[in-house]
Amino acid sequence: KKIANGKITWKSPSNIALVKYWGKKENQIPANPSISFTLDTCATTTTVSYQKLEEEGNEFSFDLRFEGKPKESFRPKILTFFQRVEKYLPFLKSYHFTIETSNSFPHSSGIASSASGMSALSLCLMSLEKELHPEMSGEYFNKKASFLARLGSGSACRSIEGDLMEWGLHSDTEGSSNEYAIKYPYPVHEVFKNYQDTILLVDKGQKQVSSTVGHDLMHDHPFAEKRFSQAHTNLTKLRSVFADGDLDGFIKIVESEALTLHAMMMTSLPYFILMKPNTLEIINKIWSFRERTNSHVCFTLDAGANVHVLYPEAEKEIVYQFIKNELVAYCENGQYICDAIGYGAKK
Ligand code: PMV
Repeated sequence: KKIANGKITWKSPSNIALVKYWGKKENQIPANPSISFTLDTCATTTTVSYQKLEEEGNEFSFDLRFEGKPKESFRPKILTFFQRVEKYLPFLKSYHFTIETSNSFPHSSGIASSASGMSALSLCLMSLEKELHPEMSGEYFNKKASFLARLGSGSACRSIEGDLMEWGLHSDTEGSSNEYAIKYPYPVHEVFKNYQDTILLVDKGQKQVSSTVGHDLMHDHPFAEKRFSQAHTNLTKLRSVFADGDLDGFIKIVESEALTLHAMMMTSLPYFILMKPNTLEIINKIWSFRERTNSHVCFTLDAGANVHVLYPEAEKEIVYQFIKNELVAYCENGQYICDAIGYGAKK
């Protein structure tokens, strides 16, 4: 079959790590395994239009548009991505691509769009690959999409499917791989179904430390080896936590992982503090709320000041009241996003 031109759209979600990926080796191989909840509302929609060129070019040929306008500033990132994946998608130089993206979350909200953006783009390219190789299985499609997304941005490999995704070789997880993420293969108690994530936008500014710089800081880090082995231990502990619905155990691991991620940044050279005073205010409010109620609300953090507030669906009403009454005041312009666990990318 001759494919001349066409158009593909994917909507891919963001994800929030419970055990954090921080530190990598060559080829986007993670220094330790990680696990995340796939999100539902926070997502990137990407449309790739493709036109077959008369003859294969020497360079990649593409135009970029973001939320309806040309966006040249994305070019270096996309170019690097194309160079990394060309081996696995040999058709890339035979087409001209127009790549249009938009995010469901507000501009410069401090929410990283690399996971949702790179996974959406990888899925679009896989759809073209599937048109060229229609016999491809659905399982292979998802695995290779995750593999390609990893080469774009490590954590993006965990955004193809949901609701709980694990990435990185871990001796206690059957089928785990450094190359792509897998669906968490063990039992998960129903208290974790439809888990809620309210993202408090504490600081909407540009990230102070890019994740590339952050991962690099782990290379000569005095605590690196201890940290990497701790991630393995935490993943092992999570297995019974998920199976038994042990919310207290879950909170301990998730909050410790968030603080450890920041501790790694505070103890690297150069060192960084990515939390803001309001990040700490929110953490203290969450702890005191948990002490005076029997709520299981907890927090996690990305490599920035924003706070992800995690809680079971059964506590939605009371925690949401608490967030509105006590936490929103610490958000920049009172902004926050209500999200929940999602099930992966959609066409
Ligand atoms: O995917 P990257 O290279 O942007 O790294 C993301 C790292 C964290 O978000 C801090 C942790 C994680 O596992 O997602």
